[in-house]
Amino acid sequence: MAPTFSHTFNHPSYSGKVSFPVGLFIDGKFVDGSEGKLIDVLNPSNGKLIGQIAEASKADVDKAVAAAHTAFNESWGLKVPGFERGKLLIRLAELIEEHADALAAVEALDNGKAFAIAKSFDVTESAAVFRYYGGWADKLHGKVIETNPTKFGYTTHEPIGVVGQIIPWNFPFMMAAWKLGPALACGNTVVLKPSEFTPLSALYLCQLINEAGFPHGVVNILNGYGSTVGAAIAEHMGIEKVAFTGSTLVGRSIMKAAANSNLKKVTLELGGKSPNIIFDDADIEQAIRWTAFGMFFNHGQCCCAGSRVYVQASIYDKFVEQFKAHVQTLKVGDPFDKETFQGPQVSQIQFDRIMGYIEHGKEAGATVALGGKRHGTEGYFIEPTVFTDVKPEMKIVQEEIFGPVVVLAKFEDEDDIVHQANDTVYGLAAAVFSSNVSRALTVAQRLRAGTVWVNHYNKLHPQIPFGGFKQSGIGRELGKYALANYTNVKAVQVNLTDKL
Ligand SMILES: *[C@@H]1O[C@H](CO)[C@@H](O)[C@H](O)[C@H]1NC(C)=O
Ligand SMILES: *[C@@H]1O[C@H](CO)[C@@H](O)[C@H](O)[C@H]1NC(C)=O
Ligand SMILES: *[C@@H]1O[C@H](CO)[C@@H](O)[C@H](O)[C@H]1NC(C)=O
Ligand SMILES: *[C@@H]1O[C@H](CO)[C@@H](O)[C@H](O)[C@H]1NC(C)=O
Repeated sequence: MAPTFSHTFNHPSYSGKVSFPVGLFIDGKFVDGSEGKLIDVLNPSNGKLIGQIAEASKADVDKAVAAAHTAFNESWGLKVPGFERGKLLIRLAELIEEHADALAAVEALDNGKAFAIAKSFDVTESAAVFRYYGGWADKLHGKVIETNPTKFGYTTHEPIGVVGQIIPWNFPFMMAAWKLGPALACGNTVVLKPSEFTPLSALYLCQLINEAGFPHGVVNILNGYGSTVGAAIAEHMGIEKVAFTGSTLVGRSIMKAAANSNLKKVTLELGGKSPNIIFDDADIEQAIRWTAFGMFFNHGQCCCAGSRVYVQASIYDKFVEQFKAHVQTLKVGDPFDKETFQGPQVSQIQFDRIMGYIEHGKEAGATVALGGKRHGTEGYFIEPTVFTDVKPEMKIVQEEIFGPVVVLAKFEDEDDIVHQANDTVYGLAAAVFSSNVSRALTVAQRLRAGTVWVNHYNKLHPQIPFGGFKQSGIGRELGKYALANYTNVKAVQVNLTDKL
């Protein structure tokens, strides 16, 4: 019998008992791992054990791929019209909305994000993503290409086949939605690996996938470690595409494994060190609010976090003072407290890594203008931390910290800021704050980033593509663009003449 996760919530914002199977989800059933191993699930708010889930092995990946192949050939793929696939995706969106409170509570418990944010953002946006791709499922088609009277040429957009998807721990539920939505809309079947740190909400989703009525084997979810399950997916000969969200380092190894095995298609959504640029003609009050949100939302655990803030020299001192005052109003604490904005970091490993960067910044001579310490005495909480007096070559300016740590620096003019902003191997996101439309759009045009926000930050939309320039990734998620990364184009050429 596969293990079950049970938890009783008892908070003003949510109370109730949840209980669901946490085995491996293969061919529509929850099963034990072939080696009988379990993975501990910890609560990041206090470091304590909250449950155990089944751990998959390489042999389990083979089983899941076999189930996904059978489903692709017999009950999904080209066998099910887009209209039917769309209906199931929309039904899944509705079920997610019906289960929003329980899903948000599980996410808050497992990941540490605030319950209110998990509900209004992670869960709600995930339902929106499934509904959006449900709408696309019957609107995918190729073209007739008119060449000359002797030939009839057309294209069809076919699903790729079995796709592997590896998702991170920062938005466990939403990353599952970003990955599954377009893959299923296009008719692919999936083997998905959640992060071993935050497995619960994806396992909850499995029940809803069955309830919505997806044929068994269309979605298979395997918990396990990157070094075993992730590696097995990346090098599997039966998987024709792999999509990964996570660090640039791991992205590189996935691409190598794909190259060394069957040249499966690869899309990657990787790290960032995104510049957030404040011109002196910006609405300062608004810029400060968005800058704090752009950095500290999700405890700084966003690949697109605005972690390098550049402020025009003439307003720099004033900005720093007002920014510090605003950041001090952000409440750090229990994810189930209604006022909480920032909860704990996800794990001890991340906590140690972030504290290491803070120490490094101090040693390198940067000034801690705010924070810099652990918050409280248990769990993985870190104070929102602001560094000033930084130099471009410092590690805290160059490397992705993935925690609540921001660096503030000055710039003189447009040329100077474009140069400083571009001084990075990453190119995921950027933002420009200015009340001058020409300035904002001219700078947006010159920035090397997959997303540029103007006068806000961290706003995502199912219709708008997301992905990276440079070492921040390959391919796009969300929007119509993501569909292209889950389809093969077939060109059919028909002979209409007797001439050679
Ligand atoms: C910044 O952009 C310029 C082109 O505008 C390019 O030559 C340079 O290599 C870029 N620098 C980095 C670090 O990407
Ligand atoms: C607005 O920005 C453009 C482009 O940078 C600049 O040429 C112009 O002088 C600015 N306008 C004002 C009123 O500052
Ligand atoms: C992803 O789709 C885009 C079109 O949106 C295409 O240009 C690109 O080559 C695709 N990349 C991969 C890795 O499939
Ligand atoms: C193309 O089709 C015609 C009949 O429609 C046939 O006579 C001709 O041989 C075909 N051409 C080739 C190259 O097969």
